[in-house]
Amino acid sequence: MSWWKTHVVPRIVDVACGQRQTAELRQRVCAGLTGRVVEIGFGSGHNVAHYPATVTRVDAVEPADLGWRLAGRRLALATVPVARSGLDGQRLPFADEEFDSALSTWTLCTIPDPVAALREVRRVLKPGASLHLVEHGLAPTVAVQRWQHRLEPVQKRVAGGCHLARPIRQLLDEAGFQVTAWDEFYEQGAPKPLGALSLGTARRP
Ligand SMILES: C[S@@+](CC[C@H](N)C(=O)[O-])C[C@H]1O[C@@H](n2cnc3c(N)ncnc32)[C@H](O)[C@@H]1O
Repeated sequence: MSWWKTHVVPRIVDVACGQRQTAELRQRVCAGLTGRVVEIGFGSGHNVAHYPATVTRVDAVEPADLGWRLAGRRLALATVPVARSGLDGQRLPFADEEFDSALSTWTLCTIPDPVAALREVRRVLKPGASLHLVEHGLAPTVAVQRWQHRLEPVQKRVAGGCHLARPIRQLLDEAGFQVTAWDEFYEQGAPKPLGALSLGTARRP
């Protein structure tokens, strides 16, 4: 891993993902999480304050050591046990059907093979259990999509492999999830190429 990716990107992610306007979205996406939860791309723990009381334990999957260290303050205030249990969403170190819920927030943009990661999440979820997600991805409007394709090479270099134009719903279909709730909108205050969000839940059949 490059010096930039190891020492700088987790700090950029900590600030960029910690904007005040994301708190309401985190609250929405975490609502309904239950039991043992696997969270892929845990980052610096911005979701910790939003886990509902129905969650009993969170298994965090995060490759960046610095991201995990930056989560320290938030983890100290956590009301449920959170353990860093894995490093790569594409290869989860869990048995089949171990989890009651899964969580992914602004992560499918960065994982090199997001369909592989989603297949892994599906594998470790119990049948009928749900993945809760909020992700930025391919915009619904063509003019914004053009900007996404123009900016994506720079974004990938600066932001640790973050893609701007991934078709999130299509990725869920490819991984065998059934979408059960879905909302697409532009995030308030964010530039549209970065702020084309999908927020919803997808069920393991
Ligand atoms: C834009 S950040 C989002 C962080 C966090 N989910 C949040 O909402 O604040 C993307 C995260 O995905 C992580 N990531 C990158 N590759 C990954 C992989 N293969 N498996 C799991 N997480 C990965 C990054 O280290 C980073 O923490």
